[in-house]
Amino acid sequence: RKGKTPEEVVKRYLQKVRNPPEEDCTICMEPLAGPSGYKGPGVGAVPRAESVGRLTQCGHQYHLQCLVAMYNNGNKDGSLQCPTCKTIYGVKTGNQPPGKMEYHVIPHSLPGHPDCKTIRIIYNIPPGIQGSEHPNPGKPFTARGFPRHCYLPDSEKGRKVLRLLLVAWDRRLIFSVGTSSTTGESDTVIWNEIHHKTEFGSNLTGHGYPDPGYLDNVLEELKAQGMTEDDGQQL
Ligand code: APR
Ligand code: ZN
Repeated sequence: RKGKTPEEVVKRYLQKVRNPPEEDCTICMEPLAGPSGYKGPGVGAVPRAESVGRLTQCGHQYHLQCLVAMYNNGNKDGSLQCPTCKTIYGVKTGNQPPGKMEYHVIPHSLPGHPDCKTIRIIYNIPPGIQGSEHPNPGKPFTARGFPRHCYLPDSEKGRKVLRLLLVAWDRRLIFSVGTSSTTGESDTVIWNEIHHKTEFGSNLTGHGYPDPGYLDNVLEELKAQGMTEDDGQQL
């Protein structure tokens, strides 16, 4: 932990706004020129001069207290994501439970990628007990269908996706704990916002090949979670 208070973390990514525009804060829907509509635990008073801030990269403006409340609702990892345009400040991490990620090359081609071999990724996450970063701390979670096997073409672009997936794994962004939209089961390990191809030679679930747009789509999803080209180079 960095020892910074939520307010200090949020302020690191903000510039002061002297004259708030005549717009509503899109977090609380109250005018930026007035007080934050957010009232809740841990919301202290802030001086008027600090009541509105502008995010440094994207420029979107919010009540300071609204951003602090949003930060407190997340996993408090020192990062902040603009709720309007999704720009990430700091390094975003997730709440993926402990487990293992492995990969190797298999000497077969995927449908749609006849000229290269295939990378198989194997994820293994055992069931466990939810931590404070999960929906129901202290309660068990299940883990269905593990080990889960996933496939990428062993091409230049496929290897780039693999490098970024390894970074995403370290940042705990590949899986989450919640309610499965496929099975309806709650308190279980589920895929997060990064799509994987779990079928090798068929496409019965829609999570198989061929899918000409897949590699570009997953690169976009990785980018939306904060993995950039630079992240892939560092490995
Ligand atoms: N393969 C890959 N991705 C999937 C699959 C699948 N079989 N099923 C769902 N997804 C994607 C969904 O499109 C969604 O974006 O995962 C995301 C979360 O969906 P959930 O159903 O909530 O996730 P989860 O319960 O983890 O997945 C259900 O995927 O790998 C299998 O064994 C797993 O049968 C289970 C299924
Ligand atoms: Zn607000």
